Amino acid sequence: MPHLQTALKILKNGDVIGMPTETVYGLAGDITQEVALRKIFETKERPFFDPLIVHVADIEQAKTLTTEWSELADFLAKNFWPGPMTMVLPKIKALNPLITAGLDSVGIRCPNHPVALELLKQYGKPLAAPSANKFKKTSPTLPAHVKNDFPDLFVLDGGACEVGIESTVLAPIGNEIHIYRLGMITEEILKTSVKKFPRKISVNITQSPAAPGQLEDHYMPRKPLYIIEGKTQIPKNAKELILPESATLAARLLYQRLHELSIGSHENIYFLRKSLHRHDQWHPIMDRLIKASTK
Ligand code: TXA
Ligand code: MG
Repeated sequence: MPHLQTALKILKNGDVIGMPTETVYGLAGDITQEVALRKIFETKERPFFDPLIVHVADIEQAKTLTTEWSELADFLAKNFWPGPMTMVLPKIKALNPLITAGLDSVGIRCPNHPVALELLKQYGKPLAAPSANKFKKTSPTLPAHVKNDFPDLFVLDGGACEVGIESTVLAPIGNEIHIYRLGMITEEILKTSVKKFPRKISVNITQSPAAPGQLEDHYMPRKPLYIIEGKTQIPKNAKELILPESATLAARLLYQRLHELSIGSHENIYFLRKSLHRHDQWHPIMDRLIKASTK
């Protein structure tokens, strides 16, 4: 894979690349090079108070980043990695504070994408990567989306992202799992899964101590998006955001549709909310839509 070699060389030089994952494309840099970490924030125009997710090749590498690999963390990693789950765990001292925005914890994820896993394996070190979009804008699920925001960036092509929305961010703390950011590993999926854990574990959606990923105006398309309950509320000169009924498919297409609907002569975008969107699997999608919408 000649492109993989190019990616490895750029990372080694302390520069950043577009990295495919199963959720969204990431803007990746070497966690051991401060110049790379600074470049991530500068490129994204991201404030330093918003921590980065560290991507690892496997569980062994994840363990090198935390002082506390609990049985529950191990259970979650074995059940959901590689996959769209970021675990927030107590960080080792040696981690650059830029990664964690000065917090005592670090978000770690092993992505389920063959190209990302090969890259991580061959690079041999974890890679910090936020989503590869300008701060607050719609996340990229195709290389072309990354190129739109960052024309000069080298993007490792891994095709269209299968999951389509960002990972579930959670923290296993004692006998509790705190969900900080909703994702396609939903509250219900986690609740069902932890029934197999030897102790009773409670799962709850909590405000993150590092609230930034939860900023209200996030994921915004380039035109105002309105969530409406009935056809009488359709805004003027608007195009409809149409998504499949299947939540899996809807998540996969969500950002692609928002990117498409950002272009054109219409002024507004609207999404017609239906009762099926109340289902647990739709929860993370509605969360993104509400944050992307004009209130
Ligand atoms: O699916 C994903 O998670 C994608 C791909 C590229 O892996 N990445 C992603 O990164 O969405 P980003 O930077 O857009 O979102 C990272 C969010 C932060 O905004 C924050 O909410 C949460 O993850 N986070 C990271 N480290 C944290 C920590 N130590 N404590 C609490 N939340 C943390
Ligand atoms: Mg993001």
